[in-house]
Amino acid sequence: MSDLLDKLLGDHERQHRLLERLRSLGTAHPTASGRAVMLNIMQYMRRYPDLNHHPIEDRLFARIGARDGSLAAAAERLTVEHRALERLGERLLGQLRALPVHEESLPGEIARYAELLQAHHDLEETEVFPAARRLLGDEDWAGIAREVEERFADPLAETRADAEFEALYRILETEEA
Ligand SMILES: [Fe+2]
Ligand SMILES: [Fe+2]
Repeated sequence: MSDLLDKLLGDHERQHRLLERLRSLGTAHPTASGRAVMLNIMQYMRRYPDLNHHPIEDRLFARIGARDGSLAAAAERLTVEHRALERLGERLLGQLRALPVHEESLPGEIARYAELLQAHHDLEETEVFPAARRLLGDEDWAGIAREVEERFADPLAETRADAEFEALYRILETEEA
């Protein structure tokens, strides 16, 4: 059962699209509307990936590292990066909330966040997720699902009915059309 893995990969795809938009809007002189969309993107990143996607992966990585010692270092690195992404994301969110935005440092902050997340996804997708498909059985997947079942759904993946993320639905729907 790797539905959970497919869900994680789907999350990555949506995050990539949002990060591309974040990078294109994150110039030294962002417009007010661009700033609002960037803020919305980072609110989403702090609300869903940091509180749902990463905790699911933390459980997955713990199982993978225990199952195959050669993957322990990658699993540990990815788990540590989750905490770094949470810290960087919170800092970027705080910067975008501040008025006026500190324009000079904004592109660099965004690039740092986006590059870390991209490299992080690459390692997950090339090494750890394929190993998870290979090494984990139905009982593992069911165990992970049980551990995380009380967590809330991704507002961008399911009903897309959360008014707070209206601008992000438009970004995703434009590119999906
Ligand atoms: Fe991750
Ligand atoms: Fe991930």
